Amino acid sequence: MPIPQPAPTPGKTDWVVHDRLGLFIHWGIYSLAARHEWVRNRERISNADYQKYFDHFDPDLYDPRQWARAAKGAGMKYAVITSKHHDGFCLFDSKLTDYKATNTPAGRDLLAPWVEAFRAEGLKVGFYYSLIDWHHPEFPIDGLHPQRDDVEFREANRDRDIRKYAAYLHGQVREILSLYGTIDVLWLDFSYSSRDWGWSRGKGKEDWQSERLIELVRELQPDVIVNNRTEVEQDFHTPEQFQPRGWLHVNGRPVIWEACQTLNGSWGYDRDNLDWKPPKMLVQMLIDGVSKGGNLLLNVGPTARGEFDPRALWTLEQIGEWMRLHSRAIYGCTQAEFTPPLDCRYTYNPQTNRLYLHLFAWPFKHVHLDGLAGKVAYAQLLNDASELRFSDFTQHDRYPTSDPNALTLQLPIRQPDVEVPVIELFLKE
Ligand code: GLC
Repeated sequence: MPIPQPAPTPGKTDWVVHDRLGLFIHWGIYSLAARHEWVRNRERISNADYQKYFDHFDPDLYDPRQWARAAKGAGMKYAVITSKHHDGFCLFDSKLTDYKATNTPAGRDLLAPWVEAFRAEGLKVGFYYSLIDWHHPEFPIDGLHPQRDDVEFREANRDRDIRKYAAYLHGQVREILSLYGTIDVLWLDFSYSSRDWGWSRGKGKEDWQSERLIELVRELQPDVIVNNRTEVEQDFHTPEQFQPRGWLHVNGRPVIWEACQTLNGSWGYDRDNLDWKPPKMLVQMLIDGVSKGGNLLLNVGPTARGEFDPRALWTLEQIGEWMRLHSRAIYGCTQAEFTPPLDCRYTYNPQTNRLYLHLFAWPFKHVHLDGLAGKVAYAQLLNDASELRFSDFTQHDRYPTSDPNALTLQLPIRQPDVEVPVIELFLKE
């Protein structure tokens, strides 16, 4: 199976297809409600009733250097933070609105120290920016708006002008791409090609004036990589809480892609949520993505005091421990040309010509690798560099294999004590 080759895109993507693992951060005044970042929509909260979170946003423990260290410790190489989410609240000191961290008890731009801290740890930085906005006075009361069921309010706000909102959106994107130096990722969210709520219609690309928006972005940050949620094809696609079956294809062509995943189903801090994914599952998701040529952007929703919840920190530490021993099976790796055995994934580093076999289940002493007979020079467990012996068995009496092209590896009976064991195969030239 040949390795897919996505076509070149406008931004600079070489680092992202190498780095593979990033941190997503959803932080805003919904963190005080602590029940999902869509709380305003779900509970149909009016502006007036949502104001209490603005008035009480006081992240006294906010130290982005600790966040950056936690990300780096987990093996993450880049990070993307919500500059503004759907509720319209801005973490930065925008000149275009009063609805910003500067005017809360936080009293300052929260993105500037964030960018500095993450850069200082050597991570690339990116901004998420919400295209939809439930606070802006010109954003239509559409079918997702928190006040959608308030017919009186809807009637009183019929004349809202999406073009005026689009000017604001362009202005804010200009701000976030001008105020903080080089920005590596712009993560825009979210859009709809066409939606009809009866009393209101939405046409994403027209509403955001996406073509013009992208021109602006390229003028300010020519190398930035931009996702495809504006409905203008740019650099990468972003399946959400979903692992694709294979390399992601759009219109029949392979694309650069990054799955975004939560730790517990919610992006924003969600105190009572018990759906935490075990570290092993998250490590497997990362491997699974890389084995299909993709990335993982893993989310943490910090608390309103400005900290990562201990459950999130613990999970990042576990991932970090796996990455400490296995990151060379991730960085610089992509899909391999071979088909792995059941319950396994391959990743492949074309630079070093090494193939990595990730075992999601521990086999019965032997594992058979189709198509690899005669192709492997040396094999070892990656966690401790202990040799694994192998043979190109054909129809040996004791070890009959059905496929003369298979290479058979001998494994220890006990699985090494790591979340996912990896075998490193040095291929012959
Ligand atoms: C969705 C949600 C949003 C979240 C995003 C992350 O589009 O609306 O809350 O920020 O996904 O991918």
